[in-house]
Amino acid sequence: MGLDRSYLETSVWKPDLFKGKVVFTTGGAGTICRAQTEALILLGADAAIVGRNKANTDKAAAEMAQLRPGAKVISCAETDVRQVQSLVKAVEKTVRELGKIDFVIAGAAGNFLCDFNHLSTNAFATVVGIDLLGSYNTVKACFDQLRKNKGQILFVSATLHYYGIPFQAHVGAAKAGVDALSNALAVELGPLGIRVNCVSPGPIAETEGFKRLVREEKGYDKTIPIQRYGSVRDIADATVYLFSPAADYVTGTVQVVDGGSWHMGSRGSHHLYPHEVARLNAEQLSKL
Ligand code: COA
Repeated sequence: MGLDRSYLETSVWKPDLFKGKVVFTTGGAGTICRAQTEALILLGADAAIVGRNKANTDKAAAEMAQLRPGAKVISCAETDVRQVQSLVKAVEKTVRELGKIDFVIAGAAGNFLCDFNHLSTNAFATVVGIDLLGSYNTVKACFDQLRKNKGQILFVSATLHYYGIPFQAHVGAAKAGVDALSNALAVELGPLGIRVNCVSPGPIAETEGFKRLVREEKGYDKTIPIQRYGSVRDIADATVYLFSPAADYVTGTVQVVDGGSWHMGSRGSHHLYPHEVARLNAEQLSKL
């Protein structure tokens, strides 16, 4: 489901668009962030894939290096975005092996469905820690490189905090924070020549979030204005646009890529609502 060399023939982008650029991607072994990074590699960039799990991150980096002859793709495995020093080591390795960092994709995220009654304080903190603090730490660790190279930042956000989605309080709160962080940094870092944007995927087929939140139901795709589920390539194309010179005057934006889906209202977890809310809250709990 990721990208392959046919992208060069079938996309509208110039093959050498990102020649000489280096991208640093947290969550780069995951489905969406991997495709975003693959597009940049195919279009000439080298990449550092940052992840917690060693086997997954090493494997993804080795596979992605095969996308383009001469591509350099390194693995920065065993990096936890909640620990800024862990990211500093990954940045040092990237600069040592690839020379610099031009683009940062802050995409590492954690998600699970859980109602408030059963969601512990630590569970809430874990998701906010990965999604929001992790995004902040990523920019912190990359800041010297971004400043030096007039680099760019792309946060991976979501649309689920545009309304209340049951069982997603932790993720919605974290992603709302990511949008706020992105806006503030766009304003502060603009004078340094650093552009900052968010990309917010909607229902993208075959992703973890899709399986958990949407579930493929007959006819559900026809409730989306564009009449189909999204693909990881849709997110990759938006990423290419935002990093490309075509977006030189674009900063502080949230690029929603969802086929117009969110305009149709809150439907995430709708298959669980309201019967599961009633069932889960019937228990005398409120897990701390
Ligand atoms: N429902 C409720 N609580 C959950 C949970 C779930 N499905 N999964 C984890 N938690 C809670 C844990 O119970 C723990 O809280 P506690 O100490 O009060 O019991 C807290 O979250 C931390 O869990 P832990 O497994 O120690 O954290 P971790 O840092 O190892 O992993 C995640 C966190 C989110 C990455 C992990 O839950 C996960 O693997 N999720 C699925 C994969 C994923 O999110 N992929 C990204 C898709 S966007």
